[in-house]
Amino acid sequence: MCGIIGYVGDKQAAPILLEGLSKLEYRGYDSAGIAVFSEGKIEVKKSRGRLSVLSELTDGGKAVIGNVGIGHTRWATHGEPSDVNSHPHLSSSGRFAVVHNGIIENYIPLKKKLIDKGIKFISETDTEVIAHLFEYYYNGNMIETMSKVIERVDGSYALGILAVDHPDEFIAVRKASPLIVGLGDGENFVASDVTAILNHTRDIYYLEDDEIVVLKKDSVKVYNIDGEEIKKEQFTVNWDISAAEKGGYEHFMMKEIEEQPKALSETINPRIQNGRIVLDNISLTGDDISRINKIYIIACGSAYHVGVVGKYVIEKMCRIPVETIIASEFRYCDPIVTENDLAIIISQSGETADTLAALKEAKAKGARTIGIVNVVGSSIANASDDVLYTWAGPEIAVATTKAYSTQLSVIYMLSVYMADKLGRLSNAEYDKLVSEIKKLPDYVAQILKSKDQVQFLASKFFNSHSIFFIGRNLDYAVSLEGSLKLKEISYIHSEAYAAGELKHGTISLIEEGTLVVALATNDELFDKTVSNIKEVKARGAVVVGVTKESQQHKSDCGDYIIELPGTESVFMPSLAVIPLQLFGYYVASLKGCDIDKPRNLAKSVTVE
Ligand code: F6R
Repeated sequence: MCGIIGYVGDKQAAPILLEGLSKLEYRGYDSAGIAVFSEGKIEVKKSRGRLSVLSELTDGGKAVIGNVGIGHTRWATHGEPSDVNSHPHLSSSGRFAVVHNGIIENYIPLKKKLIDKGIKFISETDTEVIAHLFEYYYNGNMIETMSKVIERVDGSYALGILAVDHPDEFIAVRKASPLIVGLGDGENFVASDVTAILNHTRDIYYLEDDEIVVLKKDSVKVYNIDGEEIKKEQFTVNWDISAAEKGGYEHFMMKEIEEQPKALSETINPRIQNGRIVLDNISLTGDDISRINKIYIIACGSAYHVGVVGKYVIEKMCRIPVETIIASEFRYCDPIVTENDLAIIISQSGETADTLAALKEAKAKGARTIGIVNVVGSSIANASDDVLYTWAGPEIAVATTKAYSTQLSVIYMLSVYMADKLGRLSNAEYDKLVSEIKKLPDYVAQILKSKDQVQFLASKFFNSHSIFFIGRNLDYAVSLEGSLKLKEISYIHSEAYAAGELKHGTISLIEEGTLVVALATNDELFDKTVSNIKEVKARGAVVVGVTKESQQHKSDCGDYIIELPGTESVFMPSLAVIPLQLFGYYVASLKGCDIDKPRNLAKSVTVE
């Protein structure tokens, strides 16, 4: 989704803004622009298309002189991608420039009111109302004006605003859209995420909803909506700059697939101390857990697929009913939530609008909430009662891989922890589960050594029109993720089905040569899945089977077999997903797709 960067300092702003925007490209965008104070006025350069167009227009930023500016990459919501709809937007007099991430839900009545007052709009965006409102309410005091504006708008926003009367500063605010403040030496920044400013500073403030920040080159002051100054805690980001660079890989996605053993180690190792699972500062006592009536796991997309695994794992280990639900469904179904329920909210970005809203809904209804989040200080992390961070580092490719894997590992640890507190595990069972969780990074590293086989399979099937993924229980949960990985980056139609469900309709789609990827990693269900494999083969399907190396009858599960090391059945999703990620990647690569930035997608979905 949209990306924002702001700079104030002694350096020329435009090249820094362009560099920051290039780091935010991964979020997804269709146009870009900058506004810089230049010789007593605000100079705006913007255009539809890739950042390279804007860079050409400004000679890499060199052609725009000035030391204070804001920049934006836009992912169109209101109005098509076009030069005029691109941000920044100017007020009628050109004295104010605005960049915005989010959606102003009441922009229509606001626009009407402003039009009635004679103000002319030139774009179709919701954002333009902010520029005009700011001018309308401006009384010389930037903080008071900002407060007035945000009191009148509904929806989500991260805003950066320049005002001609204040050429040494800019002002920003956020609500339900990400924005962090970067604290430099004689220069300061705002950005949608830390990757945009890591080359300049690691010291940051996380802004809370409706905190207003005024940035000058030597000072950063944060205010609440009443204009009272607030003291903020400073954080230091420990992400390595190289984590946000491609480092020789052709795509971030492959780099991130390869980073999974490290990401898993960093997520798991600190939480296993002397053979015991330690969940950061979360204290869920045995009593707390035994009082849990129901667990909701709430998320979107791949994070939801982690939740589907979580349902099987937690129900099996803890015998507590779990409902995994898509956040956008949860928030509007008037869910039956009680004070004895636990809501586990999963999100890489920590900013997904639907997930955040669902979290608030669960909390409002009395549930205790635990966030499983990758981005420190993000909205979901801030709003959850407790947070378990996935230490995957920055994930840049739109298609998630390492965040998915680390989320799974946190679900496993949480589940074993709860099962133990409930007294459901013998010492031997507990030790075995913990030791297998510890081995996950090694298993994944081992699977990554056989990439060639998956690449070969991709070369055989990359011209398919439609590919099905099937499995039972946990294998079904992983099928959902394998299918999503493939379709989102290769644009091949794909569906995931619970293997036993195929014959209730979908099997009619199987024809001669249709590829079915069948997951059969669970020994207890192996024969059942093999029956389903036989059914599709009898209708002409070609089957790639994914099973354990140790499975005696592995040759029954496909025409081509991908063998995995064996671990506890409940943890097999962590292993089975790896070849599926690789398959999606290689198919997309052979089709020449834009792997890291698939069409129409954004990394962080900050609008509903
Ligand atoms: C798919 C993918 C998305 C995200 C979803 C939730 O590869 O990455 O489906 O999983 O948009 O995003 P987060 O985890 O940031 O809430």
